[in-house]
Amino acid sequence: MYRKSIGRLALSSLLIGSSLIYAQDDQASLSESAIQGKAVFAVCQSCHDASLNPPKAPPMYGVQRRYQRQYENQQAFVDAIVQFVSQPTEDRALMKHPIKKLGLMPALPLGDDMLSNIATYIYEENFEPPCDHWANAISSEKGKGKHRKQVQSSFNELCK
Ligand code: HEC
Repeated sequence: MYRKSIGRLALSSLLIGSSLIYAQDDQASLSESAIQGKAVFAVCQSCHDASLNPPKAPPMYGVQRRYQRQYENQQAFVDAIVQFVSQPTEDRALMKHPIKKLGLMPALPLGDDMLSNIATYIYEENFEPPCDHWANAISSEKGKGKHRKQVQSSFNELCK
């Protein structure tokens, strides 16, 4: 029942978003597991969509970069995401700033197989740099905090 409704959510998002989100489809370069993960990724995008303003979650571009920096191989990357999403805790989180801003992510116990497909997709996808998200953060975060500085330098490097 739960699985079914998630399937329906993913399907309707696919239909609505197909021309936008899936326009530059590089499906050919994704593994079988990542293709299956991509098909249900709308569940995550409902919060992690980089175009949401105000944001509901950090864009996946930054999540991917942070996890790739932390974990040297794909298996460790995937395992860590599966574990976090099944049961998010502040201790497990690598990114402290979003928790401060948005609170802890709710647990999404979708099953290890589905989460592992989604995490594989997050590992393999070439996400666009979230330029609009960064621009919004730069204008809303006054001052010279560490996060704002990082955002500014990413923006300067990738969005100008
Ligand atoms: C209801 C909104 C919501 C949904 C749906 C959601 N997330 Fe999140 N996610 C958040 C928020 C808020 C944060 C930042 C706070 C935190 O880290 O808990 C976050 C953070 C994360 C992080 C970073 C954790 C860290 O180490 O700091 C990962 C990884 C993640 N989400 C994966 C996912 C995946 C995969 C899905 C889909 C299966 C998903 N999220 C769906 C709200 C959401």
